[in-house]
Amino acid sequence: MSESSVQTVTLHYANALADRVGPAGLTPADLEAQAGAVARVHRDINERRTAGDLGFYELPHRTDGLEASQAMARQVGESCENLLVLGIGGSALGTLAVHRALCPALHNLWPRRRRGGMRLFVCDNVDPETIAELLEWLDPNETAVNVISKSGGTAETLAQFLRVYGWLRDALGPDAARRRVVVTTDPDKGFLRRLARQEGLPALDVPPNVGGRFSVLTPVGLFPLACAGVDVEGLLAGAAHMESHVSRPDLWENPAYLFGLIHVLFYRRGRNVNVMMPYSDALRDVADWFRQLWAESLGKRYALDGGEVFVGPTPVKALGTTDQHSQVQLYMEGPPDKVITFLEVAHPRREVRCPPLFPEAEEAAYLGGKTLGELLGAEKRATEAALTENGRPNLTLALDRVDAHQVGQVLFLLEAATVFAGGLLGINPLDQPGVELGKRLTFALMGRPGYGDLAGRVGELSDPDPRWRCPRP
Ligand code: PA5
Repeated sequence: MSESSVQTVTLHYANALADRVGPAGLTPADLEAQAGAVARVHRDINERRTAGDLGFYELPHRTDGLEASQAMARQVGESCENLLVLGIGGSALGTLAVHRALCPALHNLWPRRRRGGMRLFVCDNVDPETIAELLEWLDPNETAVNVISKSGGTAETLAQFLRVYGWLRDALGPDAARRRVVVTTDPDKGFLRRLARQEGLPALDVPPNVGGRFSVLTPVGLFPLACAGVDVEGLLAGAAHMESHVSRPDLWENPAYLFGLIHVLFYRRGRNVNVMMPYSDALRDVADWFRQLWAESLGKRYALDGGEVFVGPTPVKALGTTDQHSQVQLYMEGPPDKVITFLEVAHPRREVRCPPLFPEAEEAAYLGGKTLGELLGAEKRATEAALTENGRPNLTLALDRVDAHQVGQVLFLLEAATVFAGGLLGINPLDQPGVELGKRLTFALMGRPGYGDLAGRVGELSDPDPRWRCPRP
């Protein structure tokens, strides 16, 4: 894509300001007053980047992950129609978001030529009903498997893998099964890396300094997306373009800092619910990806100085127009605890026009001849205006169209905003200690050696009484 044909995203934040939403809003002076904090967090981020702690910042400029992913995708695509991804959390949500954004909605149903890549199935849970159904539907002769776990030891992913690898071996025999599996994990550590070496399985690296939820631009996302035919180079180019903006020290020139600061200031004023509401089915799962990024990164008990803070906004995903008929009543008139970010697309990739049937009926006549894209856009503007008039702060991240470059820009902006918001909140956005206890208790319940002592703890908390049980008829 030539530089001149590149379209860029816009962050509209006027509806977060007091002259639009009244006393609930921020003033430019409120933002200016944070200049010291912005400078401090910017300095910290730069120091951590230099120390190599924030590896995701450098991903758009790295070619190793891209080249390895593309080469592996070419190889796998020669012999298989389906790619089954096994992973959870940061090992799945980015791929799901980008796949939904950049492939046709019914991608897996189209013939190969129309799809431009393999069918993609992402399995991010251990519900036996789903896995059983998938394995019933998929033909092992046409299916490759990508097992993704940065740590290499996540129970859900390993359990999926045991079942799926067994399924491949039963169908194809051990040698052919080995050639059907691609492992994506830490280059040196963990069970999956050991297994890859032991079994001779093809493997891709997750850079050690990139955390799971920041890893969509590593082979974690790049390999399955390349298999599906996504323009992964465009995705990285968009991220690289955004990297040059979110690295700037000046708040007014840095959309990640603006997004992060606005949310943190509202959070301090009691607006602790952050809704992301795309007016685009294609971007629906970007809100899901962001929900994990924002929640797991910012929801923390301890500050960096060790003090207890119990901090973190609650991210919520919604979809326009669908949730206008489900959630917007609450956003409009419920507690004033929300900030809403719309994702808006100026030009849908496809358009649908309503024929002018029933011109005599007032309820239908005005829609005749109009496009669904016009209606979607009008509904977004109307919801935005109504919220603003009601004193409900909102922002819009606007794309010209959903393409790889702009999706790359959006993902990168939100990743950088998350790290910046973490700095303002004084917490470490890169860890997730709060999910560790649950993991260890699961190991105990599932009989993993070394965790036996914890099983009693679950037992004590599992007394089913008191309870109410519906009497039988
Ligand atoms: O962001 C994170 O670090 C987590 O959500 C992980 O991605 C998730 O727990 C899966 O971990 P792993 O990739 O090690 O299996």
